[in-house]
Amino acid sequence: MEINHKNLDFPILYYLSEEHSINKTELSNKLLLTKTDIEKQVEQLSQLGYHLSIDAKKGYRIVKRPDILLPFEIKKKLTTSYIGQTIYYFPELSSTNTMANQMAGEMSGKMPEGTIIIAEKQSGGKGRSGKKWISPPGGIWSSIIFYPLDISTHISLFTLMAAAAVARTIDKLFPQIRVHIKWPNDILTGGRKICGILTEMSTEKKNVKWVIVGIGINVNNDSSCLPEEIRENSLSLKEITGHPINRINLISHLCSEIERFYEAFKNKDYSLIIEEWKTYNNVIGKKIKVNLGEKIIIGEAIGIDEKGALILKTDTAEIIEIISGIILP
Ligand code: BTN
Repeated sequence: MEINHKNLDFPILYYLSEEHSINKTELSNKLLLTKTDIEKQVEQLSQLGYHLSIDAKKGYRIVKRPDILLPFEIKKKLTTSYIGQTIYYFPELSSTNTMANQMAGEMSGKMPEGTIIIAEKQSGGKGRSGKKWISPPGGIWSSIIFYPLDISTHISLFTLMAAAAVARTIDKLFPQIRVHIKWPNDILTGGRKICGILTEMSTEKKNVKWVIVGIGINVNNDSSCLPEEIRENSLSLKEITGHPINRINLISHLCSEIERFYEAFKNKDYSLIIEEWKTYNNVIGKKIKVNLGEKIIIGEAIGIDEKGALILKTDTAEIIEIISGIILP
């Protein structure tokens, strides 16, 4: 397979900032690149929408950044050890989950754990239950790869883990937004969806080869561009806060939260994930209707177990464990 992502890694971004200028000689010494290479990168960055001030003596300074998710910009902000430390960035993809799967297969397990595939837009974004996920520019469309050793009963926890990490990140960065998690993985505010999560795994002879957690967050995209049937039920962070959001900041915080939860997962401290998830959930204690595909059941949601299953108590006091289903309105 030829990996069709453009090489959009710009090492000079490590040293360029809004606060300080840096000249060509310093850049070429630090990066061991020729001055011509530096000029080339500056030219390409301008084409991508970076506004740089250029002073003959002081050198380059960033005046304005475009809203794009270049890996070097994200890596500069990251405080993680492995989540997001390898990023494959694509201006456009069919689906980041599909690409992550394809690349994991091609690299036969050699893609480091925590690698993220990011696309500015997706033409065939995948949602749960075979639905399409509309992914215009401005959102965060990303997939993370994991190689869990012990997964047998805990695959659903990946979805809960990602949902709790997204909810916690939004809560930290935008405390004015009240976020809720609708079991298992929808992040809502005021009943409208701001994020969806799609977990997929690859198995071989009952062994899990890798798990891909796809996270789609409506950030700077407008819900007015969405098809009518989902427009009413979706919202973006920009629409809620009334201003454009720094997506680089958001994604780097999200990586930290995911790493915190995944460390707990690896240490079998599943309760940390469950408790965080419960903080944001809006189903426990409520009477709900769940579509299981083959039937619909009604009952009170009384909890989540260690596997991430929803526990329902029916009117006849029967206790049911639901691993996968859709909560109906
Ligand atoms: C849902 O139906 O709620 C799940 C939506 C998941 C969307 C994300 S966007 C990034 C990743 N790539 C995909 O194709 N889907 C997931």
